Amino acid sequence: MGTQTPVTVTVTGAGGQIGYALLFRIASGAMFGVHRPVRLKLLEIPTGLKSAEGAAMELQDCAFGALQSVEVTDDAAQGFDGTNLALLVGARPRGPGMERADLLTANGAIFGPQGQAINEGAADDVRVLVVGNPANTNALIASAHAPDVPAERFTAMTRLDHNRALAQLSLTLGVPAAAIDSVIIWGNHSASQVPDISHAMITAADGSRRRVTEALAEALGGSAKMEIWLAETFIPKVAKRGAEIIEVRGSSSAASAAAAAIDHVHDWFLGTGVGWTSAAVVSDGSYSVPRGLVSSFPVEGLDGSWVIRQGLEMAPAIRSRLEASVKELQEEREIVTSLGLLKR
Ligand code: NAD
Ligand code: LMR
Repeated sequence: MGTQTPVTVTVTGAGGQIGYALLFRIASGAMFGVHRPVRLKLLEIPTGLKSAEGAAMELQDCAFGALQSVEVTDDAAQGFDGTNLALLVGARPRGPGMERADLLTANGAIFGPQGQAINEGAADDVRVLVVGNPANTNALIASAHAPDVPAERFTAMTRLDHNRALAQLSLTLGVPAAAIDSVIIWGNHSASQVPDISHAMITAADGSRRRVTEALAEALGGSAKMEIWLAETFIPKVAKRGAEIIEVRGSSSAASAAAAAIDHVHDWFLGTGVGWTSAAVVSDGSYSVPRGLVSSFPVEGLDGSWVIRQGLEMAPAIRSRLEASVKELQEEREIVTSLGLLKR
């Protein structure tokens, strides 16, 4: 896609919470830059149409320079027709006490037909980001129904987890989140995910770089204390942040999820900047994650391709956590296979 070519973006679940936080940021140019014209397609189910239509009216009222058109529909063929980017948000969120995998049966059935509609009508260069939970396995389902679209174009969102990890490090170390790079989220977007800071770096105002582990050991009173903090505080805090938000807010994260979707797509097309970011992409066998599973990796993006960063050393504790997360992804795959959701 050239810089001035209009980009057609389909947002499913556009009448929902995340939709409302996401649409205005896409239209304002936060995803592709203010000079890239955007055509928005809002796909809903009949009960969500009014809410999406209201959002479309408000989008017009913003008079955004980059927004070329807004279309609202409950017809998947129309919603995905000619789309360059499909943001699959529309799905039920979990409530208090649920795990994201509890949504497999409720939400899995959405992603097969949508994958098929993408296969049939989307632009040849279509890219897909799945946000609706359980996101990794839903991406697998959508991809399985789109045999003409290369599997690596289907991704799932772990950028929110990545940003949450940056936020916790920022709070603990008293440095801006933007000064920290090369954090990794491995595995599933679930409580089994593996936030890993072993390679993370901090850039100071004078440009000097320092390992996050070194700064943490200093702030927490030594390496042994840091290891305890990582295992008992940091990892569970990041991995269970979604549940904490649901408990405190009364509904699942919306604005931070929308911000993460903007970041994911921005970096996918326009580049990652210093270090790498995290995204769930189809595994090519890297880091012993079985081929074909949609798992989170350290990735570098440019022009709509994610490249998995290779050759990073993994501590045994991180590797065994990743194995557990991969096992969960395999179990999710078995469940959706047994439900017939992976077949066309
Ligand atoms: P919401 O209930 O506010 O909105 C969901 C919208 O999707 C509703 O308007 C509904 O009508 C619509 N919808 C349902 N089925 C649809 C279909 N087949 N086609 C089109 N639209 C459909 O929920 P929300 O808070 O916006 O969350 C949406 C999803 O995103 C949930 O599954 C939630 O768990 C997930 N989520 C993921 C992340 C992540 O990091 N990956 C973060 C936050 C939320
Ligand atoms: C999140 O991480 O906030 C979302 O996946 C919503 C949830 O169910 O946790």
